[in-house]
Amino acid sequence: MKLITLLLGFCYCLSAQDANLKDAVKFPLGASVNPRMLNENEAYRNIAKEEWTSLTAENHMKMMLIHPAADRFDFTKGDEILDFAKASGKRMHGHTLVWHNQVPQWMKDFQGDQKAWEELLKNHIQTVASHYKGKIAGWDVVNESFLDDGSLRPSLWADHIPDYIAKSFQWAHEADPAAILFYNDYGQDGKPKKMKAILDLLTDLKRRGIPIHGLGLQMHINVDSKRNELQEVLDKSAATGLKIHLSELDIAVNPKNNPDFVYDEKVASAQAEQFIFVFKSYQKIPAAQQYGITFWNISDKDSWLRGYFKRPKEYPLLFDDNYKRKPAYSSLINSLHTSN
Ligand code: XIL
Repeated sequence: MKLITLLLGFCYCLSAQDANLKDAVKFPLGASVNPRMLNENEAYRNIAKEEWTSLTAENHMKMMLIHPAADRFDFTKGDEILDFAKASGKRMHGHTLVWHNQVPQWMKDFQGDQKAWEELLKNHIQTVASHYKGKIAGWDVVNESFLDDGSLRPSLWADHIPDYIAKSFQWAHEADPAAILFYNDYGQDGKPKKMKAILDLLTDLKRRGIPIHGLGLQMHINVDSKRNELQEVLDKSAATGLKIHLSELDIAVNPKNNPDFVYDEKVASAQAEQFIFVFKSYQKIPAAQQYGITFWNISDKDSWLRGYFKRPKEYPLLFDDNYKRKPAYSSLINSLHTSN
C-alpha cells in the first residue's frame, strides 16, 4: 500500500514537472517572436512551437519593416512567422497597423495635405490587413496613442489626420471584417489620466458605431508594480465588455538597471508571485472576454528590456538564458491548479 502511495506521488511529481502552462489555462497563451531566432536557435524554436497557442510578430508586421518604401510592401518575414504559427496550429495576432514608432523614413519625409495623408494611411492599413485577411485572428490597429497625462500623443498621424484613431479602425474593418480589432497601450497602472483617456476613447468609438472589439494592455510591469493599481486597470478594462488581451507581458526585476543587481531566489520568488497575481486576476475576467495572455519575447536572453533598453541584468520572463523553464513556471502552474 505504502509503495503504491509512493509511486503515485512520484508520478504526480513527474507529471507536474512536465506539465505545460498552456494546458493549465483556458485562454490562448502566446509570445512575440522574431523570425531570425526561429531560424537560427533550436531551443528558441522548440519553445515557440511547444509552449504557446498564439504568436505575435515582435517587429515584422510594423510599418517600418512591412512597408519599407512608398510603393513597396515586404511581407516575407511576417509571412514566415505566420507560416510557422499555422504549421504548428497556433493563432496569429497582428501587431501593429498604426504606431508613432518604427515608422519608415519615407513616411517621415512625406509631404501632402490631409487627404494625401489619409490616403497614405488607409493604403497602408488596407494593404496589410488584406494581405493577412482570414489568416490573422486580430489586429492591434492603433498602438500607444496617449501620453501619461491623458493627452493625445503628437505623432505623424495625430498631426496630419484629425480623428485618425476612428478612421484607422474603420479602414481595418473594411479590409478584414472578421478580424478582432484592438486598441493597445501600456502603463495605465498608477496613471489614472491615461487610463481615463483610453476608456473615454473606447466609449466614444462604441457610441459612434466604430468597429472596435478589444483592448490590449501591454503589461510591461515590474516586480514592485502595485497590485491594487493593476487590479483597477483590469477591472475597468473588463467593465468595457471588450475582449481583453494582456498583449506584451513581462515583469522587470531590475527596472533601474542597477549594474550590481543579483537575481537571487528572493527576487525570483517575488516575481513568481507577481506572475501568479496577473494570471489569477486575468482568470477572473469573463471567459468570453479573454483573448489571451502574450509574453513579450521568449527567454530572458532575448527580452527587449536587455536589447532595446540595454539592461543586461534584467530577467523578466519565464525562461532563463539557457531556454530552461524558471521556477516561476511551475509555481504558476501549481497555483492555477489549486485555484480551479
Ligand atoms: C519593441 C521590440 O520588442 C523591439 O525589438 C523594437 O526595437 C522596439 O519595439 N510596445 C510595443 C512593442 O507595442 O511593439 C514594442 O516592441 C515594445 C513596446
